[in-house]
Amino acid sequence: MANFPKDFLFGTATSSYQIEGAVNEDGRTPSIWDTFSKINGMTYNGDTGDIACDHYHRYKEDIGILKEIGVKAYRFSIAWPRIFPDRGKFNPKGMDFYKKLIEELLKNDITPVATIYHWDLPQWAGDMDGWLNSECINWYLEYSSKLFEEIGDIIPMWITHNEPWCASILSYGIGEHAPGHKDYREALIAAHHILLSHGKAVKVFRDMNVKNSQIGIALNLTPAYPATETKEDNLAAKYADGFTNRWFLDPIFKGNYPIDMIELFKKEIGEFDFINEKDLSIISQPIDFLGINFYSRSIVKYKEDTLLKGVGVEGTGKKTDMGWEISPESLYDLLNRLKKEYTRIPLYITENGAAFKDIITEDRRIHDQERIEYIKEHLKVSNKFIKEGGNLKGYFLWSLLDNFEWAYGYSKRFGIVYVDFETQKRILKDSAIWYKEVINKAAID
Ligand code: FCB
Repeated sequence: MANFPKDFLFGTATSSYQIEGAVNEDGRTPSIWDTFSKINGMTYNGDTGDIACDHYHRYKEDIGILKEIGVKAYRFSIAWPRIFPDRGKFNPKGMDFYKKLIEELLKNDITPVATIYHWDLPQWAGDMDGWLNSECINWYLEYSSKLFEEIGDIIPMWITHNEPWCASILSYGIGEHAPGHKDYREALIAAHHILLSHGKAVKVFRDMNVKNSQIGIALNLTPAYPATETKEDNLAAKYADGFTNRWFLDPIFKGNYPIDMIELFKKEIGEFDFINEKDLSIISQPIDFLGINFYSRSIVKYKEDTLLKGVGVEGTGKKTDMGWEISPESLYDLLNRLKKEYTRIPLYITENGAAFKDIITEDRRIHDQERIEYIKEHLKVSNKFIKEGGNLKGYFLWSLLDNFEWAYGYSKRFGIVYVDFETQKRILKDSAIWYKEVINKAAID
C-alpha cells in the first residue's frame, strides 16, 4: 500500500472548448477552435465543440459527479471569448457562468483550479494575427486582470497557460492545431509572446495583491531518450528535449532560452529579433507552483536532414489509443530532473490520463481496466517521488469526461466518466469508481 500525504490534492481536469458547448450563448463569440474545427479535414470526422459535453448547461450534474467521486480539486479553463467576446468589451454574462460554476464547486468542498488560457483564443484576436501579434499580450493581460478582479481570490490556484508548446509550436509550426499554420518562425514568435504574457500576468497578479491564491503555469513535458547510446542519437535526444521541454522550462526557471536550440533554430528561422532584452526577466518571474502535463516519452534517432537532427522511433512499451507509449518510469525521471535541474517549488501533475477504446457492456458498465492500470502506475511513481522527498502536491486526472479531443474530435475517449454524445448521458467507468477509492483512502494498493 502506498499512502499519499493527507493534503495531497487528488483532482480531475477539463478545458472549456472541449466540454462546454453552448458556443453561441450569453454573448460568446467564436474562438479560433470554432473556426478551425469547421474547416474541412482539420478534425476527425469534421467534429466540432459546438455541443461537446453540453457542460455549460449540465455543470451542476457534472459537479455532482465530482462530488460522487470525492474529487478534492477540479481544474477547468475559462473561455476567453465568453469574457471578452469583442476587443475591449467585457461580457458580465459570460463571467456569470464561471461564478456559478465556482460557487457550486465551493458549495461541494471542491477546490477550483482555473486555467486562463487553454487554446480557445477569441477569433477577433485571431483575425489580428493571434499570438503572432505582440498586442495579443495586452489583450491577454486585460482578460487576466479582469479575471483576477472578478474572481481572483476565490480561486486558490491560477494557471496562466496550458501547454504553451501546443499553443505555439503545434498550432503555428506543425499546423495540427488552430490556427493551423506551418511556419517555424511563427511558432517561435507565438511561443515567445505566450511566455511573455505568462510573465506579465504573474506580475499583474502580484501587483493586484490577489489574496489566498497562487499562480503557476502548466507545461507539457515529454522526456526524450536516445534510441541507442551513440553520440549522434544522444545529440538528437538533446535537441528533442530542447524543443519540447527546455525551450519553455529554461526561460521560466533560468531566465534564458537554451543556446544550443537558438543556434539550431537560427538556421531555419533567421534572427531572434522578436526577443527584447528585458523579456526574459519578465518571463522568469517567480511562480508559486509548476503544473506538469505528462502522457508519454519520446525516443529519438539521429537524422541529419531534419530541423531537430532526429526523428522519433516507436518504443516497445504498450500504447494507449493515441498511440502513445505507456512509460510511467519517464514520469519518475522527469520529476527528479525538475527537482535537480530546475526548481524546488511545489509541483502538480496538472494532466495525466489515457485514451482507450471503451466498450459498454450490456448492463451499461465500462470495465476500463487498462485506464486503471495506467493511472495506478503513474500514481505509483508519483508516490515514490514524494516518499523520496519530492515536492509533488497534487494530481489532476485527464479527464473527468470523455470530450472533444482537438484534432481527434470525439474519436478518443480520455474520461473516467463515459459520455454518450447522442443523449449526453454520463456513466461512471470502472476507473472513476476505482479513483473514488484511491481518493477515499489517499492510497493505492
Ligand atoms: C493535452 C491537452 C488536453 C488534452 C490532453 C489529452 O495536450 O492539454 O486538452 O487534449 O492533451
